[in-house]
Amino acid sequence: MNSVRCKLAVTALMLAALSTAACAEDGSAAWLRYAPIPAASRYANLPSRIVVRGASPVDQAAAAELRRGLSSILGRPFTVETTQANQATSDAIVIDSHAASSLTKTTASLRDESFRIIFTPGSGHAQLSILGASPQASLYAVFHLLEEVGAQKPIPSLDRQSPSAPIRWVDEWDNLNGTIERGYAGRSIFFDNGHVRQDLTRAGNYARLLASIGINGCNVNNVNADLDLLTTEHLHEFARIADAFRPWGVKLALSIDLSSPQTVGGLSTFDPKDPSVIAWWQKKVDEIYTLIPNFAGFTVKADSEGRVGPSKYGRSPADAANVLAHALAPHGGVVLYRGFVYNNHLDWHDHKADRARAGVDNFAALDGKFEPNVIIQIKEGPIDFQAREPVSPLFAVLRHTPQAIETQTTQEYTGQQRHMVWLPPMWQWVLDSDMRAGGRSTRVKYIIEGKAFNQPTGGYVSVVNVGLEPNWLHHPMAMANLYGFGKLAWNPDEPLYDIIDTWTRLTWGNNPKVDSTVDAMQLASWHNYESYSGPNGMGTLTNILGYHFGPGIESAERNGWGQWFRGEKDGIGMDRTTATGTGYIRQYPPELAAKYESLATCPDDLLLFFHHVPYDYKLHSGKSLVQSIYDTHYAGALAAAEYVPQWQSLKGLIDDDRYEQTLRLFNFQAGHAIVWRDAIDNWFQRISGITDTSERVGHDPYRIEAEDMKAVGYVPVDVDPWETASGGKAVICHGPEPCTLTTVLSKPAGRYDIAVQYFDIWRGVSTYDLLINGRSVATWAADDTLPPAQPDTHLDGQDSTRFTAHDVALQPGDTLMLRGTPDVHPELAPPVSDTTTSTGPETHMRRSLDLRELAPVDYIEIGPNGPITPQ
Ligand code: GCU
Repeated sequence: MNSVRCKLAVTALMLAALSTAACAEDGSAAWLRYAPIPAASRYANLPSRIVVRGASPVDQAAAAELRRGLSSILGRPFTVETTQANQATSDAIVIDSHAASSLTKTTASLRDESFRIIFTPGSGHAQLSILGASPQASLYAVFHLLEEVGAQKPIPSLDRQSPSAPIRWVDEWDNLNGTIERGYAGRSIFFDNGHVRQDLTRAGNYARLLASIGINGCNVNNVNADLDLLTTEHLHEFARIADAFRPWGVKLALSIDLSSPQTVGGLSTFDPKDPSVIAWWQKKVDEIYTLIPNFAGFTVKADSEGRVGPSKYGRSPADAANVLAHALAPHGGVVLYRGFVYNNHLDWHDHKADRARAGVDNFAALDGKFEPNVIIQIKEGPIDFQAREPVSPLFAVLRHTPQAIETQTTQEYTGQQRHMVWLPPMWQWVLDSDMRAGGRSTRVKYIIEGKAFNQPTGGYVSVVNVGLEPNWLHHPMAMANLYGFGKLAWNPDEPLYDIIDTWTRLTWGNNPKVDSTVDAMQLASWHNYESYSGPNGMGTLTNILGYHFGPGIESAERNGWGQWFRGEKDGIGMDRTTATGTGYIRQYPPELAAKYESLATCPDDLLLFFHHVPYDYKLHSGKSLVQSIYDTHYAGALAAAEYVPQWQSLKGLIDDDRYEQTLRLFNFQAGHAIVWRDAIDNWFQRISGITDTSERVGHDPYRIEAEDMKAVGYVPVDVDPWETASGGKAVICHGPEPCTLTTVLSKPAGRYDIAVQYFDIWRGVSTYDLLINGRSVATWAADDTLPPAQPDTHLDGQDSTRFTAHDVALQPGDTLMLRGTPDVHPELAPPVSDTTTSTGPETHMRRSLDLRELAPVDYIEIGPNGPITPQ
């Protein structure tokens, strides 16, 4: 791995002021780079001898990790010895995993994962004891210590830590064929071609990363589970994944389809009350534990988005969950039954129909009817991982049932790892939300930890979907989401600044300028994304019938999926009030319900989730709704554009490879934020009939529409939906010869940036040439793999992107020409059938695919030369 090669070289040189700027890194080490620190001398008194009192694989992994980390960070050799539990040691860092008795401060279920680090700096060598209640706890302590040293933080004399909840899992939505549902960083690290991969090195590396942030469970397959998942052949294969995880204390879990007794077992039914079904699950679970003794349990998606479930037999989720729970209980396994049960064929004509109600409607009556090892896994909001939603009321309704929160690290609705969006601020906002259940303080974090309603278990789950790309999630900044999830699951009260600052230091180095810049960018990024995507609680206004990436506003309306916002002539927003609406608000405890019901107290940022209001409705901010939307979208897109110069100010302070990769992504985000801004602002201006008081929307003084230029070969086409292209139109070139667009400029003499907004379709590679007075100033190829990163030739907000030529000298009367050469290779021609197997909304948009890329162009924007691409 590049990162390792680089580090060893630097360590060997033992440079005093160490910089990683010259090193090539591929991001695979994530926050475990163990880069040498400039302040190594601060830790000079740490003994170089590591003594581990325990020979278990996890103890040994902990000791080896400590040696590896400290040697690399501090640039001096550390050694490891294994001794008996009670053997005396001096002048050593001691790892002792038999310290349970001294860690009694926490509840029994968490004690095993608790640790203390005792540090006594002496005049000569310091004493450092790592006391874990189990080998796994010692491993957590080791990673914690390495983090402190790597981020140049002082080691406190006593650090005592326990996780907040026993369930701290990640879910991967990987299919056995190697694809990943909502995965944006390549194919599965676990599966290929219907089987577990032979080489599970990446799976082991991933478990190490997970352990380093305190994650103790990993569900490796899609909640839309393969129907043959539980065959004996597959179970033997999954045992190999469990083996790869085991040294890191990460337990394997599986998502199962409830029809398995039929599809795998050959039974005639999967009715959870049928004795043959009960017996089948019992036997299957016993078989699993024979092969995987530390198996964590099952995740269940049922009666949801086309998955079968107990409703087929008139049974309830409790009936189904309890059969599994009975089988798992003797082995210590759990069932995470998802609260994401809803009807995706709602009648949109019905103004009382409301998908948001589904969680409470389906589960409230079952409270207390689940076995103690069933945990209801609840998405943070009532819809589906939008840029902002209110907290799910189900958290407050289930008072006799363990719960876990489900968050989404994979950025399905938040930019798919092509936009930087740091999500922990959103998650912490949810976790801190006080539901006021029973009229008392019941914050979500205390509910899921089992404390608020006195439940035996509960916790945190995040859908991550890492892929085979070296850096796991594609955007080098995206790993901060996984890191932040782990940190909040361990301690939901950890300040966001501390989380991001530690991540930044470990990922990008301890240079103060790098740290303050990256921290500030990440901390602002969720708000910025929300500002140019989903306003005022409307949800992310993406194309929900497509890939959930670019804007596609009305896709949410007038269909059965129930993500409606009801944009109508008189106004916009879902009326979910008790008085006149769907009654959803009534599902919250009274204090919260009263707050949301009244326009006087409903927060602006959730307004349209709860209320239908006119477009000129006055917000608490004093602005009209529609003007506020215009303003936030301009501000958000500008903030995204500013990431580029902010990042450029760090050139030379970080390694070139990751610098360049991140810069490319920031350039993309800057352009795509404009696509979002324009789509939403133009849509609102059209539907409301209210113009922007600042006269920006629909007025783009620097912009030349492609369809207005003199065309040779290019022909105009309508773009659908219209708001995703400037003026609703683009031009395409049928080729095979290049086509041209020409215009005579009347710009005052000067230097300019020229941005070309075009569409980059996955598979075809068009090429473009930008010429001034016949002289080429830039050429580029449309060869990006934007999400969807799978064939879809539709021109819209999901593939609209831009190239910017900087610092171009122009004179009045210059002729600008854009030459586009389409990619019309015969193998791209139709008909080709789409074999996508996903069960989400996009299955509704199958089309016969013509994969030729016709060098499409939307517009050209010529603005002042400067750090920000013309807006
Ligand atoms: C979303 C997502 C689906 C996923 C589903 C789920 O709807 O788009 O791909 O299967 O959530 O969480 O089950």
